[in-house]
Amino acid sequence: PLKLGIMASGNGSNFEAVAEAIKNKELAAQIKVLIYNNSSAKAAVRAENWSVPSVFLDHRKYKNREEFDREIVQTLRQYDVEWVIMAGWMRLVTPILIDAFPDKIINIHPSLLPSFKGINAVEQALAAGVKIAGCTVHLVCLEMDSGAILMQAAVPVLPDDTSETLHARIQVEEHRILPQAIALAAQRQPQATVMY
Ligand code: GAR
Repeated sequence: PLKLGIMASGNGSNFEAVAEAIKNKELAAQIKVLIYNNSSAKAAVRAENWSVPSVFLDHRKYKNREEFDREIVQTLRQYDVEWVIMAGWMRLVTPILIDAFPDKIINIHPSLLPSFKGINAVEQALAAGVKIAGCTVHLVCLEMDSGAILMQAAVPVLPDDTSETLHARIQVEEHRILPQAIALAAQRQPQATVMY
């Protein structure tokens, strides 16, 4: 099974979706740890309910992003994590984290990238007047919301949508594709080279 570390800042419904997929044997993985950075993150309650260890790391306590990422890397290593899943993680990352898990960090973003990067992606889509919205699961690279795309799913934007109703429609798709994309990313890893 894949050894996952999940990073979340808020509600944690994507954490829940991954835990459910594992329970239902749709994803051969185990969640080794949840890292969260807001003391009120509901993700922490969910982790507790799933008996997943969770670690609270408060970014405000570190002097810069690098120091914060160093602590994250140490925690992930401590819990023997191979794949890092950003499931509603609302902090920018540095090379400290990216270089520690090359091509093994996955993010979910609530837009059809490369449209609407950054925060408030759903509001950005509504403001732009697009008729199709969606979500993207991608590998994380240094440039925000720009790594290789693993999976996307589209939903319609309906005439009366608010950011809440549209986000809810997008989240149904997030919960479906995130576990699938994790499996896909793992399969794409090159096999160990055998030398003759
Ligand atoms: C998700 O919609 C995710 O795509 C988004 O935050 C939400 C977290 O929901 N991520 C970003 O906007 C990253 N920039 P959740 O806490 O219920 O999983």
